Amino acid sequence: MLEKLAEIKSKAIDELSNLSDLRELEAWRVRYLGKKSELTQILRGLASLPLEERKAVSASANELKAFFETSHRENKESLKERTYRDLETTVKGEKIDVTLPGRPIPLGRLHPTTQMLRKICDIFVALGFQVVEGPEVEWDYYNFEALNIPPDHPARDMFATFWIDAESGQRPMLLRTHTSPMQIRVMERTRPPVRVVVPGKVYRYEATDATHESMFYQIEGLAVDEHTTFSDLKGTLYEFAKRLFGEERQVRFRCDYFPFVEPGVEMAIDCMVCGGSGCRLCSGTGWIEILGAGMVHPDVLRRVDYDPEVYTGFAFGLGLERIPMLMYGIDDIRLFYSNDLRFLRQF
Ligand code: PHE
Repeated sequence: MLEKLAEIKSKAIDELSNLSDLRELEAWRVRYLGKKSELTQILRGLASLPLEERKAVSASANELKAFFETSHRENKESLKERTYRDLETTVKGEKIDVTLPGRPIPLGRLHPTTQMLRKICDIFVALGFQVVEGPEVEWDYYNFEALNIPPDHPARDMFATFWIDAESGQRPMLLRTHTSPMQIRVMERTRPPVRVVVPGKVYRYEATDATHESMFYQIEGLAVDEHTTFSDLKGTLYEFAKRLFGEERQVRFRCDYFPFVEPGVEMAIDCMVCGGSGCRLCSGTGWIEILGAGMVHPDVLRRVDYDPEVYTGFAFGLGLERIPMLMYGIDDIRLFYSNDLRFLRQF
């Protein structure tokens, strides 16, 4: 029996030296001091031993029990300490450097067309115009007929048109070729005074190249009231040009033809690159055409029940992409809608 105790002791000491954490220590305690441990069994069985042997074994077993208890206590302390030390090193090693710069969140931006659209609309809003929008799928009536362009009118050649397949007997439908149909829609539903600008997409059935896209943006303007004159047209558009292109800009009006205005004009600004002496941007002329405009044709007014003897008005329409192209030296209109981020990120 004494040999057995010595065996237990050496095994226990052996295992004790290999413990690495408190959980293992607890298992060790159960193994050597628990109710089912060999040592406890021996202590329980003392009574059945002959007296002489009982004395010797009892002393030895109790001594071992006390030894185990002390060992357990001491190891518990040192293991606890080690655990704290380990934790401390981990925490120190993982400390957060709050002075590191954060990761930047990539910011989106508005498309250059949207930016320019807003800028131009803001200018007209400041001049007293309202912003309205209209349908891109349009009736032939609004896009052409009501604007003095009947089916056989040569002016239809100005607008290569995407037609929409109509069911037989239905009125002809198309993708609007300009924003001017909104002139009619606005006047049909309101009485003068009218002052609106209409930004939006328009469509032309044309081969695309550096200066032509099959979809692009226009901004239409319309002002109708009693006593609206050609001077109002000139004054408004001159003010617009100065606000958009700069105080020193010169403007030039020349005769042009659009069936829905009379007289019709085109407006140009003096070239911002050469200042008028002639360069590549202005093809040597010193002037850059910006928009078409004119006094609303009396027939157009009559069609929406405005009496041309009482009311007069002016209208204008400008191609939007041309303006950032001029301002930033963009030489291909197709860049706007090909979604190349290298292009878009510059704005
Ligand atoms: N709608 C014309 C175009 O697209 C421009 C224009 C608008 C001209 C209003 C005069 C008045 O070419």
